[in-house]
Amino acid sequence: MIRLGVNIDHVATVRQARRTNEPDPIWAAVLAELGGADGITLHLREDRRHIQDRDLRLLRETVAVLLNLELACEPEVLQIACQVRPDQATLVPERREEITTEGGLDLLGQRERVARAVEQLRDAGIKVSLFLDPEKEHIQAAAELGVDAVELHTGGYANARGEEQQRQLHKLVLAAEEVRRLGLALHAGHGLTYRNVHPVAAIPGMEELNIGHSIVSRAIMVGMTQAVREMKQQMLLAVQHREQP
Ligand code: PXP
Repeated sequence: MIRLGVNIDHVATVRQARRTNEPDPIWAAVLAELGGADGITLHLREDRRHIQDRDLRLLRETVAVLLNLELACEPEVLQIACQVRPDQATLVPERREEITTEGGLDLLGQRERVARAVEQLRDAGIKVSLFLDPEKEHIQAAAELGVDAVELHTGGYANARGEEQQRQLHKLVLAAEEVRRLGLALHAGHGLTYRNVHPVAAIPGMEELNIGHSIVSRAIMVGMTQAVREMKQQMLLAVQHREQP
């Protein structure tokens, strides 16, 4: 089967636009669960531009499905993660000026830094996933660090069109094979929408997709529960196709 992790950061983005108390990402998480979310994903950024510490603590208490915290290899947020203990932590690169996470972790250049973060999180009993570009060398380096999962960055695929999109999809398929060959759990995310999710959900062994922008955008129009339900339907349809030889 396949899990849908609903990223609720953008709900907090709207709240922070007015520094008020609505819309509340805690409500959004409850409604996402009602729609069939298998996980709630949030990114506690160093600059706290959307999710706040309070959100993480309350979500830890209220979310009944898997709680997946995205974070950078920064001592301050790592310490918070170890205190709050989400079910899973996904390490991502982070730059203050970026609009969203722009690439996978640089595992070749920053190996020691990532290794220390992985060790700290695992010592706190948290499963660790690394957000990586679909490149063999990075995946192999991740396996050497003893992580539980790799989340393949689907941004290249999502942003491409036509033949280039097919090429990017092929890269994801090959990277997915490598992740599974090394015995790691296979996750993917970034830029996935109702229109482009199908081929990614159909990749053999795909266990978890983390999707935010597209679901929250649709939720503004149709409501969070319905938006999550529709995305889950798309993913399950793709899995049915995957299972037909
Ligand atoms: N996965 C990771 C690691 C991310 O950083 C993000 C964006 O916060 C997502 C998935 C979700 O991306 P999107 O909002 O484009 O669906």
